[in-house]
Amino acid sequence: MQHIKKVVIPVAGHGTRSLPASKNVPKEMLPIYNKPVIHYVVDEAVNAGIKDVIFVTSKEKTALEDYFDHHFALEDALERTGKTELLRTVQELADYVNVMSVRQKRQLGFGHAVLCAKSIVGSEPFAVMVGDDIILGEDCGLKELIDIAQKENKPVVGVMEVDPSMVNKYGIVAGNKRSDGIIEITDMVEKPKVGEAPSNMAIIGRYVLPPEIFDYLESGKPGYGGEIQLTDALNRLAKDRQMLAVPVKGRRFDAGDLLDFLSVNVYFALQDEKMKDGMKKRLQKILAEFA
Ligand code: G1P
Repeated sequence: MQHIKKVVIPVAGHGTRSLPASKNVPKEMLPIYNKPVIHYVVDEAVNAGIKDVIFVTSKEKTALEDYFDHHFALEDALERTGKTELLRTVQELADYVNVMSVRQKRQLGFGHAVLCAKSIVGSEPFAVMVGDDIILGEDCGLKELIDIAQKENKPVVGVMEVDPSMVNKYGIVAGNKRSDGIIEITDMVEKPKVGEAPSNMAIIGRYVLPPEIFDYLESGKPGYGGEIQLTDALNRLAKDRQMLAVPVKGRRFDAGDLLDFLSVNVYFALQDEKMKDGMKKRLQKILAEFA
């Protein structure tokens, strides 16, 4: 498989799970620790060797493109006041990745969002990331997938085991597990009912796909929720050529889930040597109040 240079990140959604916080601020711009959610997602792509980031966006989401661009008034102010460290942080963001964007003019589903990127992606294999999923751990997430996709020359999705009561929130894969833990996919279902899923291996919003997926998306019919689902197109692709599901090693947080969102903030604070002790003390105090 060719080198993966581009990642498609659909971000046009309204972020209803994060309302009212996401009413005027895109959910991808809500901060976790000291950075917006999208920064973590882009970090994972950069760590996997990707520099071209394609946002499938809407008119409310221009803040994402602005974040990865210069902000000259702010840079001037930081320079004038001698805040060189902050100035460097802000300037580096503008050179971090090449952002391209395409509008998803109607919200017809996750698969439809990926299809909107067709002409920017062209005829090369590419990655897709769900902007809500944050995967932490060294070289975890997209890098693991790209390594395997390239070694095996096959499309790949990232999966994690979930509690059987949660299968209705994910795309679920079924297949044959090899001795190295990788699954050769035989079936995929978008958000099956609890008790009806073919397994509890959930797609966690990381994909490495061939350009042919666009043909499957174009000829796809609406699926779960009346929307064009990427999972349905992938299921048809997996029937025509072998596709792999790779259990991702890192720790996953769903930034759109309030409990996960709060927990990941605490997780980062506890990892920060300067903040760790203070955070622990405050947590202990809070826990004592609720004991
Ligand atoms: C999307 C995909 C689903 C996948 C999930 C991972 O669903 O359609 O297959 O399991 O991302 O986060 P969404 O979260 O957009 O409903």
